[in-house]
Amino acid sequence: MKSYMMQGAKIISTGSAIPFAKVTNEQMSSIVETSDEWIFTRTGIKERRLLTESGKSISDLAIDASIKAIDDISMDPATIDLIILATSSPDDLFGSASKIQDKIGAINAVAFDLTAACSGFVIGLITASQFIFTGTYKNILVVGADALSKWVDWSDRSTCILFGDAAGAVIVQSCNSVFNSILNFHLSTAGNYSDYLSISYEENLQPHPTLNLCQGSFKYISMNGKEVYKFAVSQVPLSITKCLSDINLSTEDVDWLLLHQANERILMAVAEKLCISKDKIISNLSKYGNTSAASIPLALHEAVQSNKIYRNDILVIAGFGAGLTWGTVVMRW
Ligand code: COA
Repeated sequence: MKSYMMQGAKIISTGSAIPFAKVTNEQMSSIVETSDEWIFTRTGIKERRLLTESGKSISDLAIDASIKAIDDISMDPATIDLIILATSSPDDLFGSASKIQDKIGAINAVAFDLTAACSGFVIGLITASQFIFTGTYKNILVVGADALSKWVDWSDRSTCILFGDAAGAVIVQSCNSVFNSILNFHLSTAGNYSDYLSISYEENLQPHPTLNLCQGSFKYISMNGKEVYKFAVSQVPLSITKCLSDINLSTEDVDWLLLHQANERILMAVAEKLCISKDKIISNLSKYGNTSAASIPLALHEAVQSNKIYRNDILVIAGFGAGLTWGTVVMRW
């Protein structure tokens, strides 16, 4: 991070929303050949929430999470300058952030979507902080929301057991000190591994007398689980170490480690590599599975609600996923 930072940025409120329908591992075993024992020992997941209510979309969850974050601090939505919706499963390919802007009454806010899969929230938070550091905006709503249940192949047991649907939101506000604020960030991309995790678009040639018209549709999630696992446990610790050491902190200074909730074994392996006690890991994935861009703000909201994080605690947030992309944010709470 460059030292042109003029304003600090801090998270002043959180919110989240989950769908009503809970699907346990036992229920998954009626869909594909699997078992609670296999899923839990390989991933730490016990159950997930799926967006099955008719007429309810990922935008509705994102709106619910946003309203919670706003109401929690009795904020006037008209004071929000920017809304960033991190999602890879919008209900409108042109973007869904403007729907949030409308429904929450953020009449003065600019709104756009950001597509970066499971790293989406971290990249959204960093993007928001740039607008704040430069003094451009004061109040920014960052939402992470995904409904990957709409994009999994429900006959592929190696992927469909992993994902759940949810939304999480934070309000980032400018502040005048480096205390209680974002201290540093680090982002990386390895596009050469993009095939390891993707929802690719497939074209069908439609012959026409004068033109070749190509229209198609998106396929299901495809994933090389082993490679994604290896990538996460090797790259995420490096990103965290760099992000801390750049500001003269070490892993001993970390009070809370909040990683993208992909797999309990990944969380444990990253903490172990960093010599961070497992008591400092924030984890809720047994209840929700991998909720992609929503996983970090959902877990953060729960941690804040349960008064886990104290003022001045050093919180390390790290996201990783398709792209492949990964990144870290270090905050003093
Ligand atoms: N239930 C039962 N058996 C399953 C199964 C399921 N849900 N999914 C796969 N299997 C089987 C495989 O078919 C394979 O059987 P085989 O040995 O007879 O061929 C066996 O279990 C081992 O499969 P494998 O893919 O080697 O398992 P794994 O130990 O690598 O675990 C993941 C699979 C997906 C749990 C693991 O690779 C992982 O978590 N990767 C990271 C994925 C991730 O987090 N992605 C999102 C990142 S944002």
